[in-house]
Amino acid sequence: MGWVHTTQLRLNILLERLQGLDFTRANQRPAELGLDEREVFIPSPSGGPALRRVLADLGIQPADSVLDIGCAKGSAMRDLLRLSFQRVDGIELSPDLAAIARRNFARLKQARVSIHCVDARHFDGYGRYNVFYLYNPFPPVVLAPVLQALTSQHDRRTELLVIYNNPLGHAQMLAQGFTAMRRYPDFWGHGIQVYSNRPQASRLGPPRLAPGEHTSGSHPDNPAA
Ligand SMILES: C[S@@+](CC[C@H](N)C(=O)[O-])C[C@H]1O[C@@H](n2cnc3c(N)ncnc32)[C@H](O)[C@@H]1O
Repeated sequence: MGWVHTTQLRLNILLERLQGLDFTRANQRPAELGLDEREVFIPSPSGGPALRRVLADLGIQPADSVLDIGCAKGSAMRDLLRLSFQRVDGIELSPDLAAIARRNFARLKQARVSIHCVDARHFDGYGRYNVFYLYNPFPPVVLAPVLQALTSQHDRRTELLVIYNNPLGHAQMLAQGFTAMRRYPDFWGHGIQVYSNRPQASRLGPPRLAPGEHTSGSHPDNPAA
């Protein structure tokens, strides 16, 4: 991480503190939050220009609702809120992080937001959303049942878009019937991929990625993972 980035980060943390917010300050390790390190990757925030570029390219409409699966303190949700989504909700396993996220959005007086403190494998509200965001929250062994729960709560005809930042579970996405439609660069170099469950009739048009031309993310020890 260069000094420009570090300085920017420190400045953001200071500005947030002055406003009573906490999106960017480093999170504790999963074990310190009482979470199982084998099932949860290190919580870290995403968002910023790279995510905004992806979102601007997707043609989001007021009928769309988005769910950040593993939202931590809500950093990425701030960027999701810049678009005309009907709802911008998050689910988070850690009660401590979910409480901080709720506090952040209450302070920002955001009425379009709800934070659910729940294990993504057991969430029963996936049917309310058609766009999903993941910043590499958990390993493939957890992603598989999450995708099963998510798809089972939708009609097959509904197009689901998944924005997967650092897509370590690319193989699980394919196994669950998703196709990688587009790939975008990000600051850390692990890539952001957009998937659809209806590639032949997608609102995004035909896939821009040839089969096999994809990223599978970076190792979870990456500082951004
Ligand atoms: C890398 S952070 C991403 C934060 C946020 N999405 C962002 O981009 O700013 C991933 C979060 O997923 C949460 N998480 C991990 N496993 C989960 C599960 N099974 N259910 C819900 N949340 C989970 C972690 O606690 C962590 O806060």
